[in-house]
Amino acid sequence: MIYLDHAATTPISKHVRDVISTSLADDWANASATYTIGREAKKKLNDAIKAIARAINARPDQIIVTSGATESTNNVIRQLPIRFESGHVITSTIEHPSVMKTMEWLETRGFEVTYLPVNELGELSVDAVEQAIRPDTKLVSLMAVNNETGVRFPIKEIGKLLEEKEIWFHVDSVQAVGTTEVDMRDWSTDFTSFSAHKFNGPKGIGILYCKDPHHYVSVITGGGQNQGHRAGTENLPYILGMAAAFSDVVRDRGVHLDHYASLEHYLISALHKSELPIEINGSRRYHSPHILNLWLKGISSSQFLILADLDGIAVSAGSACSAGSVEPSPVLKAMFTDRNRINESIRVSFGPETTTDELDQLVNLLITTFERIVIKKK
Ligand SMILES: Cc1ncc(COP(=O)(O)O)c(C=O)c1O
Repeated sequence: MIYLDHAATTPISKHVRDVISTSLADDWANASATYTIGREAKKKLNDAIKAIARAINARPDQIIVTSGATESTNNVIRQLPIRFESGHVITSTIEHPSVMKTMEWLETRGFEVTYLPVNELGELSVDAVEQAIRPDTKLVSLMAVNNETGVRFPIKEIGKLLEEKEIWFHVDSVQAVGTTEVDMRDWSTDFTSFSAHKFNGPKGIGILYCKDPHHYVSVITGGGQNQGHRAGTENLPYILGMAAAFSDVVRDRGVHLDHYASLEHYLISALHKSELPIEINGSRRYHSPHILNLWLKGISSSQFLILADLDGIAVSAGSACSAGSVEPSPVLKAMFTDRNRINESIRVSFGPETTTDELDQLVNLLITTFERIVIKKK
């Protein structure tokens, strides 16, 4: 199978698998227990949190373990009605559903949300954010890298803009970890969300970085785990697995980034040489090279996905996390008015193991598909 859908999820690396399976066998004690094996589990837990904090240049007390970015983003947005009666929030029109749906919920709680539009390249300017700020703005929530196009938002610059203001800044950093230096001191964010399964870690676990944990109101209450920020007995094997994945991704990021850039260059050149009617969706200037969104002019994405699957190639259209079915992508709908473009686009995303041979097979399939469907029609 040729897996070209790393933006949806990534395979668990061997190192992470080994860490988790060893821990499943050895670390079953409750980390809150006071006897020896409980204290040993607690030490491993604390060491893992320290390693995660180091990976993103944060303090251990700023790390809240969650079930992933969906929970992290929900927890940030749901802070607002706990702390304020009303207010204004800024986000963009191309955020992940975990942000969009929670913003809709926030609107039912008396908050006003500005959804900043992006341009045809999927870009958003710092000026647009600055102009949308109102005296009652409480939160700006934006993604670092878009999960469908790979387009980057100017997170650092927006962080600087908001630094001196009494406005929380939340960044959905899910797609950025593998290709971007994710440095909490440098980003000036108040909250940042992460999911371990997007960088070769396990699913169902992630973190919320919280700049000032004293200002965080726990949404899940119970025992005092996670410094009282998220109650429930800790999933130590997965926390250790996530820590290993974080350390590995930080160590290998430069190598991976070069690899993705050369794969992207290779694929674009091969498509160019094929002279197929394919266009890239999204900015090439501000983008993360592990995601490439392609408009296959004249071929519906649902049709291509079936043919690719029959050929053993996994690519996607729309966002797999929210789909399962091939609905028109809300991200592409926010970027384009052309229905054909929205319905004829696919996402290709690379991982550390992706090879140029695999890309050749994708290009070959594209060539035969265009021959069968588009050229035959003419
Ligand atoms: C940009 C972005 N944010 C948030 C999420 C949600 O992550 P999870 O499903 O791990 O909670 C995803 C998942 O694809 C994503 O791509």
